Formats: sequence, structure tokens, C-alpha cells
Amino acid sequence: MKNQIKIEIKKGNELSERDIGFIVKINIKTFICCKNYEKELKILKDEEMKSSFFFVKKDSHIMSFGLLRPIKIKYLGKDYNLFGISNMVSIKKGKGYGKILVQAMKDFLSKRGKTGFGFCSNKNTEFYKKSGMIVKRKLKNRFFYNYGDSRENKEAMQDFVIYWEGKDKFVTKVLKTKSLIKIPCEHW
Ligand SMILES: CC(C)(COP(=O)(O)OP(=O)(O)OC[C@H]1O[C@@H](n2cnc3c(N)ncnc32)[C@H](O)[C@@H]1OP(=O)(O)O)[C@@H](O)C(=O)NCCC(=O)NCCS
Repeated sequence: MKNQIKIEIKKGNELSERDIGFIVKINIKTFICCKNYEKELKILKDEEMKSSFFFVKKDSHIMSFGLLRPIKIKYLGKDYNLFGISNMVSIKKGKGYGKILVQAMKDFLSKRGKTGFGFCSNKNTEFYKKSGMIVKRKLKNRFFYNYGDSRENKEAMQDFVIYWEGKDKFVTKVLKTKSLIKIPCEHW
């Protein structure tokens, strides 16, 4: 059937070399921080094999993709198994493929009762709001990448936190308290 939209979800270690090459190529075209093909390929292979990659396909062509990275955070004595929302890209922008991608991620998280969160800049807040995510500015000051160079990490932090809360009520807990949340990995 023509014009059929399909969602495909693959773990990082299930991606084909073709998928990986496609993602890296698009990331270099899309994000200014991604410049070198070999370097980006290595980062993806080293760090994202446990992540779940979401592909929105139309007639088997990838229209948008993104990933949820499993991440364990200890906050106020409790362990939370969360997901980091990352690498959201629409190949054809303004056609609703980004929103379909976010919906697929929300469904995945809701089914598992998990919280997903990520960071974004001002220019993308409307997109996330329209896609049904919660967007909060002040929250970003509460997160801290506890990895590598702390100053560099602070500079890399984006302005807004976007999230979809699960049964763990992680964000509600964060909003009711005041401590810093240490993210035990490099920014995503
Ligand atoms: C951000 C991005 C993924 C959005 O994907 P998209 O497919 O263009 O978005 P959609 O067409 O699904 O838009 C969904 C809704 O958000 C709105 N929207 C999308 N981008 C917007 C923007 N920059 N400003 C205001 N509204 C926006 C659309 O108008 C649409 O509204 P509607 O539901 O009322 O029709 C895409 O622009 C992209 O790939 N950007 C470059 C990479 C990037 O910055 N990724 C995000 C990293 S945090």
C-alpha cells in the first residue's frame, strides 16, 4: 500500500551498517557539533548499542528518527531507570514526521511506565509542546553532567528540559525538591 507510515524500533546492536551510516551522515548534515564521520561513527558504536532507535518510515523510506537511551540516575537515595531522549531529526521537516516520532516514544515510555527526558534549545520548544511533551526552562539548572570536563558540560547544556513522566514520578520528585541531579554520562 502506498503512503503507508510505519514505526520501526531497533536496539543499537540490531542496527545494520547501512542504518548506522545513514544516521551518522544525517547527524553531520543536521547538528553543528557533529563534524567528523569517523568520530561520530565511533561515538554511536561505543555509546548507543543499548539505546532504542525509532524510525518513522513512509513506503520504507526513513522520514524521521530519534533514540531513547537507558540511563540510571541516583537521586536522593533512590535509583531511577530512565530514558534520555536524543538525536531527534526529521529528514523532511514540517510534514508531521517529528510529531509521529515523539508519539511513538511516548507510547513506548507509557507502556513501560518509564520517564523520558531530554534537553532542547528555544527554537524547538514549540515543536515539543505541540507533540505533547512537557517543556520547562528552570529545570535545566538542576541537571549536571557528571562526566569529563564539568565546565565544558555546563556550556553544552541546552536551555529547556523536555519530558514525559512515567509511574516512577521522577520529575515530580525533582520539582518538589532542590538537589542537583547528576547525569552519569556525557551529554546526549
Ligand atoms: C525539530 C524537528 C525534529 C521537528 O520535526 P518536524 O517533522 O519538522 O515537525 P512536525 O512537522 O512533526 O511538527 C509538529 C508540530 O510542531 C510545529 N513545529 C515544528 N517545528 C517548529 C518550530 N521550529 N517552531 C514552531 N513550531 C514548530 C509544527 O508546525 C507542527 O504543528 P501542528 O501540530 O500544529 O501542525 C525538525 O525540525 C528537525 O529535524 N530539526 C533539526 C534537528 C533538531 O534540532 N532536532 C531537535 C533536537 S532537540
